[in-house]
Amino acid sequence: MASRTLSLDSVIAGYGYGDVLKGVDLEVERGSVTCIVGPNGAGKSTVLRAISGLLRPRQGTIRFEGADVCGVAPAEILARGIAQVPQSNGIFPNLSVRENVLVGAYILRRDRKLVQRRFGTVAELFPIVGERGGEKAGNLSGGQRRTVEFARSLMLDPSLVMLDEPSVGLDPKALRVIAQAIEQMSSAGKTLLIIEQNVRFGLRMSTHGVVMESGRVLMHDRADTVLNNPEMADLFFGGTVTAAPRRATTPA
Ligand SMILES: Nc1ncnc2c1ncn2[C@@H]1O[C@H](COP(=O)(O)OP(=O)(O)O)[C@@H](O)[C@H]1O
Ligand SMILES: [Mg+2]
Repeated sequence: MASRTLSLDSVIAGYGYGDVLKGVDLEVERGSVTCIVGPNGAGKSTVLRAISGLLRPRQGTIRFEGADVCGVAPAEILARGIAQVPQSNGIFPNLSVRENVLVGAYILRRDRKLVQRRFGTVAELFPIVGERGGEKAGNLSGGQRRTVEFARSLMLDPSLVMLDEPSVGLDPKALRVIAQAIEQMSSAGKTLLIIEQNVRFGLRMSTHGVVMESGRVLMHDRADTVLNNPEMADLFFGGTVTAAPRRATTPA
């Protein structure tokens, strides 16, 4: 049996009085690319906030690498190996690409050798970080900016990287850049937990799929099984899933 790195058990959480998550169960296998899909307002981002410590669940447990991390502060969650790339654009356009990446290592700043080593590792994974390190990040394309955000999130060498809607607002060419970057992180040994509003795009690049609706998990299976489930077609694609043409994949 594949080993789990993260598991949520009956997590109830919300803002103010109401519950947004109404008992979420979720398991993330080590080394997987797990994609959460679901309509707007389903609670997908709230799940990530609960995992990263930004929102403390009212009930339930969250376990990461065997330890209960419910109520653990965000900085400690990060130190334990969970990085989150939020949905909003987090690039500083007037800083260089290199500076944008180094922001992710701010807490290590006293250990310059370690920071340099990590930067080297990240630049090896994402060559653009080294090649265009001195350029203003604002000059990069949308897909490249996202890649820089991913690079930043890797500076503390997390084992789990969570991406909230990495493809949002990007054109098809940029989507290929994102998909490739995700594949590279996965090949480098990272476990990925991704939220995608582009359901096909998200599930096609993932090993596992999770469908959320109204604060609950409706389905959790292999990504291709979720993608080909007829109920999914009704929920998201109006019954056209199997007939839909695949996007051409010319090299980026
Ligand atoms: N900071 C917040 N304060 C109050 N309500 C929020 C906040 N963030 C999200 N919500 C509400 O929680 C619900 C789920 O939001 P969210 O987790 O962002 O959904 P999703 O990411 O699936 O679109 C929505 O009804 C949203 O209005
Ligand atoms: Mg969201």
